[in-house]
Amino acid sequence: AEQKATNVHWHHGQITTEDRNRLLNQKGATLWFTGLSGSGKSTIAVALEEALFKRGKLSYRLDGDNIRMGINKNLGFSDEDRTENIRRIGEVSKLFVDAGLITLSSFISPFREDRDQVRRLHEESNMPFIEIFVDCSLSEAENRDPKGLYVKARAGEIKNFTGIDSPYEAPEKPEIHLHTDTTPLDQEVAIIIDYLVQHGLIS
Ligand code: PPS
Repeated sequence: AEQKATNVHWHHGQITTEDRNRLLNQKGATLWFTGLSGSGKSTIAVALEEALFKRGKLSYRLDGDNIRMGINKNLGFSDEDRTENIRRIGEVSKLFVDAGLITLSSFISPFREDRDQVRRLHEESNMPFIEIFVDCSLSEAENRDPKGLYVKARAGEIKNFTGIDSPYEAPEKPEIHLHTDTTPLDQEVAIIIDYLVQHGLIS
């Protein structure tokens, strides 16, 4: 969506992103979890948040269900609404990274172009964007069916359900690729922590 207001200018303060990063002793970044409903995005983000907290690192989670009850409650699951959902969350994630936080954004985000747009938004401001593909087979996600939504989608009670009658476009070059069918949760958390250490985002 193009900008409607004219004559608006970004107001710089005296304290920079780098100042805030130094204060927090970490480098803010967006960790973008993408995958099917029931793939494990939120579960991994919750476990990672706890692991980071124990290391003295501040993270904050943005999650599909929560965001859709608040800032995005006027959006549904049409292609257009999903794109707008991801655009807004991308902007919010970027603000949180500017604040110095390790931002854990967990959304199905089924469209490659929408995710790439969020990546560009970060990268043009030199903010780290780490795409994490939470890869899970449809059959496994459907077996888990933690909210009973796949059963409803199969019964035709939910339309446009991702993986059933709405597409999911898998990432082609994610920074991190997790296989939640087979990898235990603690190992997945360790993989992500290792990545953050290797890339100098946390110590
Ligand atoms: S998206 O595609 O990124 O805009 O979706 P997201 O904001 O992550 O919201 C996904 C959660 O909404 C519930 N839900 C649906 N998902 C997919 N398709 C349809 N039609 C749908 N309707 C409701 C579902 O609980 C998703 O939760 P998760 O946590 O992903 O399982």
